[in-house]
Amino acid sequence: FPTFELNEPGDPAAVVGHRGDSAVAPENTMPAIVSSVEGGAEFFEIDIDFTADGEIVAIHDDTVDRTTDGTGAIRELTYAEVSELDAGSWFDPAYSYAGVPTLDEVLEYMADSGAHLLLEYKSEWDAEMVAASAQLIEEHGVEDQIITQSFDLTTMANLQQELPEVPRMVLGGINDDAISTAHDLEAVGYNPPVSHVLENPEWVQEANEAGLATFVWTVNEADDWATLTNLGVEGIITDHPGQLMGWNDRY
Ligand code: G3P
Ligand code: CA
Repeated sequence: FPTFELNEPGDPAAVVGHRGDSAVAPENTMPAIVSSVEGGAEFFEIDIDFTADGEIVAIHDDTVDRTTDGTGAIRELTYAEVSELDAGSWFDPAYSYAGVPTLDEVLEYMADSGAHLLLEYKSEWDAEMVAASAQLIEEHGVEDQIITQSFDLTTMANLQQELPEVPRMVLGGINDDAISTAHDLEAVGYNPPVSHVLENPEWVQEANEAGLATFVWTVNEADDWATLTNLGVEGIITDHPGQLMGWNDRY
């Protein structure tokens, strides 16, 4: 059974820059990714989806409306159209140069920098599209630098099938099926929202005893960093990776 190194209560959690360093630079863009990595966070997290013509890109929403100067569903736009978009100005005009990155571009940066990625597959991916992502990951030789995750269990099963060598984590709420779901998918972890962990603090030990790591999202308050660190979670996903690193360093 694949495993992730588990923490003891009080061990500093791995710092994960949510959508990159998304409080500092526009989410899911290269400047946000580079800021998270150069700031020293152990992982950066991005969301991926694909265009009508099958180009895999980093974006959170189903549409480009909120985070670019365009409109429309990402799966209905061509990559030629997406490549023209400004994905930075909505956040700050200083980032008007930032586009919607391709997964290929992100993986090339990872191969050069050695950075580690928590890669979230958005919506549902069929086996063919998961295989396309797997091919890119293998071409860049970054299999050892990635953990995949998804809320969608069909996508998770396709990851288990098409990208078995890259560790997987299941995203979801804390429920009675969580541990068995993760085991069926041969996942190394199960990643719940911070609100569920605060309501069910015993979860972290239960997951650990079942051999599962816990990366908690999205945690932006120092009080919650303290609570989660005391519980021994393995990862904290935050919009403020630099601040969390500083908080960890106080040990
Ligand atoms: O990494 C988990 C977290 O990012 C899930 O929520 O909506 O920010 O993708 P969301
Ligand atoms: Ca995400």
